[in-house]
Amino acid sequence: MGAPSSRHDGGMLAITVVPGQADTADLIEIDEPPLDDGPILVQTMSIGVCGTDLEIVDGDYGTAPAGADRLVIGHESLGRVLEVPDGCGFAAGDLVVGIVRRPDELPCSNCAVGEWDMCRTGDYTERGIKGRHGYASERYRIRPDYAVKIDSRLHHVGVLLEPTSVVTKAWEHVEAIGRRARWEPQVVMITGAGPIGLLAALLGRQRGLDVHVFDRVTDGPKPDLVTELGATYHIDDIGDFVHRADVVIECTGVASVVLDVLGGTAPDGIVCLTGVSTGGRPLPLDVGTANRSIVLGNEVVFGSVNANRRHYEAGAVALANADITWLERMITRRVPFRDWREALTRRPDDVKPIIEFAS
Ligand code: BGC
Repeated sequence: MGAPSSRHDGGMLAITVVPGQADTADLIEIDEPPLDDGPILVQTMSIGVCGTDLEIVDGDYGTAPAGADRLVIGHESLGRVLEVPDGCGFAAGDLVVGIVRRPDELPCSNCAVGEWDMCRTGDYTERGIKGRHGYASERYRIRPDYAVKIDSRLHHVGVLLEPTSVVTKAWEHVEAIGRRARWEPQVVMITGAGPIGLLAALLGRQRGLDVHVFDRVTDGPKPDLVTELGATYHIDDIGDFVHRADVVIECTGVASVVLDVLGGTAPDGIVCLTGVSTGGRPLPLDVGTANRSIVLGNEVVFGSVNANRRHYEAGAVALANADITWLERMITRRVPFRDWREALTRRPDDVKPIIEFAS
């Protein structure tokens, strides 16, 4: 298809906030997406809600694009291509997920080669989070290099690709570190059975590992979601188990949980921290003891955030290989976009609430 059509010239609805200010979230009418955002016009189908969105809505995180007061939120997306120029590798009707991060302008050595998830300046932008409008609008535009095509069988669950890309990266880096020596991991410990923990467990099971997920709840969907993966669900003490773990993927960001997994894994253990903590609650840490066991155990503790195109593509394969009914059950609420406020209010049994713009 050639030039962008003017079918949608009347503007569109978008969920926006004034970053840094609580209680400013609103569904407002904004202009159609600018051509500068890219030649592919996408109809938004669904937007996932995560802790980062709640922080943005609470005024604790996020920045608007330069010169704008409001930020369109939404970084976990699924859309359908409406219009695309010939020769882009996409066709009208394709299901796509938009990548979140864009390289810094410099670009730094990592951004220059597409490894923007490892940006060295911190001057990257992120759609729906940092300096760039997100996907929570009826339509958006995107460049082909930031759109990832997904299998049409995933039309109900493809919105899980962005969080899957985050854990795909975490696993890739765990495995890269593991290659420092001969490494035959068996036991994986995952702290937190939220979306990131469950998807990390899925990838662990896809690797044939013995996966143990720790959370506090005894009811709701989490225990069954874990056991249906062939993993073990625990509500007992993390500290009693961590010494068995070859790999720990920490997905809560809760300071006391982080403390429990530091310096206590099986020899040569690798601890990947993925949860973004809020801070402000100092805990006592015996640095000498933690250092001693990390050194004597060749333990690695590292942080992991975001994902690049390679991780989205590998994540799309992981989702296509997963049981789709299991993925559907991770999406615990589907809220029509006009009722968007409901999706941004936490409920005890939530795993992943999503906002549906179109079906
Ligand atoms: C997103 C990442 C992003 C991070 C920090 C997370 O919620 O999934 O893509 O890099 O927040 O802004």
